[in-house]
Amino acid sequence: MRKRVWIVALATALMLGGAASLATQESKAPRLNPAGNGRFTFALIGDLQYGPEGEAKFPNVIADINADENLAFVVHDGDFKNGSSLCSNDVFFNRLAAFNQFEKPFIYIPGDNEWTDCHRANNGSYDPIERLALLRLLFFPTNQSLGKHTIELERQSDDPLYALFRENVRWVAKNVLFIGLHVVGSNNNFGRTPESTAEYTVRNAANLAWLREGFELARRNNHRAVMIIIQANPNFELQPADPNRAGFNDFLTLLQAETLQYGKPVVLVHGDSHYFRIDKPMIGVQSGRRIENFTRVETFGETDNHWLHVEVAPGNPNVFIFDQRIVAANAIRHLGGS
Ligand SMILES: [Fe+2]
Repeated sequence: MRKRVWIVALATALMLGGAASLATQESKAPRLNPAGNGRFTFALIGDLQYGPEGEAKFPNVIADINADENLAFVVHDGDFKNGSSLCSNDVFFNRLAAFNQFEKPFIYIPGDNEWTDCHRANNGSYDPIERLALLRLLFFPTNQSLGKHTIELERQSDDPLYALFRENVRWVAKNVLFIGLHVVGSNNNFGRTPESTAEYTVRNAANLAWLREGFELARRNNHRAVMIIIQANPNFELQPADPNRAGFNDFLTLLQAETLQYGKPVVLVHGDSHYFRIDKPMIGVQSGRRIENFTRVETFGETDNHWLHVEVAPGNPNVFIFDQRIVAANAIRHLGGS
């Protein structure tokens, strides 16, 4: 029965993919002016459409972001539903339609709630690997981003060695390198079952290769900053031996080595713990001291249905300026009365 569901989904997905590529053909844009060091702005979101409240409030987030005509693009750092709701085809199609309501190019990075955790009974007891395959098919059908207007992305799958990893992306905007990496919560799918660990092992190797290649590019092309976007909070504060860091240790080790070698601003954007913050959590393995050129930014999420505005500011040594955007229509009423 599951097989039949899969075939129907596949057929629908291919039809939708065809329709989408026709619809976006006229708005296809080349890669975003990779040269130059000018100013531009973009938006960051993630962990939204959580439960009935989050679903009801998401159109306000879309409207608020669409009202800012200056944004170059919007990045979603994963989790398009909460971890205790269905992973059905309907939910996937619903989220894809919502993402395509954004006026600006929309780049989506997968989260654990939409596949890793789909084995849970309250998620519909799906096979996570099967959900991941559908996710890849639906959300990354071509090298164009999602959204009403699109940009061209470089995908890791362009390399036949990594054909599976359509979701790992890279793009350059005005000499800033953006790297989207498929690193997810739930310990990066490591250790739950032998199958999950096998999946982690292959994807982890691809992620490390994509991260290494990205930094090589940044050094070679003298990019002024690197922004990496993942879904997982990789638990900087835990010791490497802590089992809850097992799925992130390889990523964190390489990220530190590359950040130090690169020497210019590196920002890691993630969601997962639903707590907006900007901090400096990377401690040098050898020095035991805080690494200055590394910053972590966590996006709003879950009950906080808001977004982050990011400005790339020429002349600012930190390159990025982050500013919270509280969506007025989604603000919580903290006091009683009418
Ligand atoms: Fe989440």
